[in-house]
Amino acid sequence: MSEATIKDLQTRRAIRRFHSEAPSAELLDIVLKTGTYAPSGQGKQSPVIIAVQDPQLRAQLTRMNAEYANPGTDPYYGAPVIILVLADSTVSTWVEDGSCVLCTMMQAAHALGLGSVWIHRERQMFDSEEGKALLKAWGLSGNLRGVGALALGIPEGEAPQPKPRKADYILKL
Ligand SMILES: Cc1cc2nc3c(=O)[nH]c(=O)nc-3n(C[C@H](O)[C@H](O)[C@H](O)COP(=O)(O)O)c2cc1C
Repeated sequence: MSEATIKDLQTRRAIRRFHSEAPSAELLDIVLKTGTYAPSGQGKQSPVIIAVQDPQLRAQLTRMNAEYANPGTDPYYGAPVIILVLADSTVSTWVEDGSCVLCTMMQAAHALGLGSVWIHRERQMFDSEEGKALLKAWGLSGNLRGVGALALGIPEGEAPQPKPRKADYILKL
């Protein structure tokens, strides 16, 4: 048993403050590659991972996401990397598959000393006409629907402490 792995799994927290400097390409590639090894229903690998560093595109995604929450705010917390996860919605496990990819990448980022937070509302973003136009421009299938995203970067400041775990989380029978 690797105690370091268990410790990493338990100490990952949602990070919402980032250095403006982006993580190295080498670390980012490890996070992305690790995501591709997440489990998927029947091994169909339904998700697609889109790593965005281009400032103009990040600004567009930020505006689009905020439109479904608080317009004018930055739901990606100024992170230098936004990692979108979409999945082929014709596969019955597409949401679960994409969720596994997001979790696997969050844990990989933490193990490498990077920070990330899962960001919501990519479903609405990529179901919209603007989102569908982006998919087309990127040469991606119209069957893809958004599962979620990670705001990712080099963490700034102390990591938050976890809330106490609820007493009835685990039932042993
Ligand atoms: C499905 C899902 C959606 C989430 N959406 C957001 C979000 O839109 N914005 C955000 O700041 N955090 C979001 N989070 C992060 C949670 O708020 C965070 O994981 C939770 O507060 C527990 O903190 P921890 O990750 O440090 O344990 C989301 C997490 C999940 C699993």
